Amino acid sequence: MPDPVRIERPLWLSPNGWTVEVLDQTLLPGQVRIARLRSLKDAAQAIVSMQVRGAPLIGVTAAYGVALAMRSDPSDSSLATAYDQLIHTRPTAVNLRWALDQMQAHLSPLPPAQRSQAAYLRAAELADEDARINRQIGEHGLQLFRQILARKPPGTALQVMTHCNAGRIATIEWGTATAPIYLAHSLGIPIHVWVSETRPRNQGAALTAWELGERGVPLTLIPDNSAGHLIQRGLVDLVIVGADRVTASGDAANKIGTYLKALAAAAHKVPFYVAFPGTTIDWTLRDGIAEIPIEQRSAREVTHVAGMPPKGRRVEVAIAPPDTAARNDAFDVTPAKLITSFITERGLCSASARGLAGLYPDQARSSARSVRARTRR
Ligand code: MRU
Repeated sequence: MPDPVRIERPLWLSPNGWTVEVLDQTLLPGQVRIARLRSLKDAAQAIVSMQVRGAPLIGVTAAYGVALAMRSDPSDSSLATAYDQLIHTRPTAVNLRWALDQMQAHLSPLPPAQRSQAAYLRAAELADEDARINRQIGEHGLQLFRQILARKPPGTALQVMTHCNAGRIATIEWGTATAPIYLAHSLGIPIHVWVSETRPRNQGAALTAWELGERGVPLTLIPDNSAGHLIQRGLVDLVIVGADRVTASGDAANKIGTYLKALAAAAHKVPFYVAFPGTTIDWTLRDGIAEIPIEQRSAREVTHVAGMPPKGRRVEVAIAPPDTAARNDAFDVTPAKLITSFITERGLCSASARGLAGLYPDQARSSARSVRARTRR
């Protein structure tokens, strides 16, 4: 097993050149273990079980899932089956569909004999592209951080609040919301991060606290319920989160609880930023609340808490009476009007149709064309 501090990416190819190795995120922070994916089924299961999670990483894992499928059977029907199995693993993060579309468009025209090699190469390109894009998100976000810090008394740290894990292990490198945080910290800019635990799966406590802590970024873990209180007391300079799907009009789906932070931030005039790559935009949707599919997860994640001791098996304990009814919406939608600005690899823009189309005119035009074509049919 690699030394934990040497894990630069949460996904890589094994030295045999075809097995996909991933950091098993269900075991963090107690154990740093690697899971090996050797088939399409393994890749799909890794996404479903959340060994890998986070919108960009789900997309790249799916791309490698297609590569694994092509390695065992490069036929047209195998390609179609891979697409079909992977697209149904998790419903909200649109990066999954984007990555599968990329793979399908690249592989379908090729003769089957060339598909396996081409699939691995294309999946590696998607991974490298994600790392590069996130670094750019970081640079754009850093400029904002500097501006906000410049308005504070000299010598005080920038107080950043985040939610869930939009970090380097939710992507290939850097993270989205964490990219400017890592850059600022590496430049010696004083920064402190409020990390909300993110019930029910605790991605903030288990993953964000782990990865920021590993890089020495100062942080404080808080219960989800304290976010409004800290914002009200003036202890937060800005909120920055990631996204799983952003509509063409600027509504953003992200981990459940994001919307409450946006409401609190708006009430106290604290800027609220959403950082994401262009692959997170769903140009086919306009109304996020009505149209973005929200993943419904097991009630058991609400009625129980789970943890991972440094040794031994995952432990789960009940926190509610047996048979308590529970509902577990995994994401919520923050309407565009509550978002101060988007931070993307192409720069900053307002959370609006005009803002997104201004940064991505190519994609906005081609989606408008396909919507017109669909309505004519
Ligand atoms: O359910 P998860 O852990 O996959 O949810 C992750 C999030 O909501 C992230 O904020 C989002 O995917 C952005 S990751 C850069």
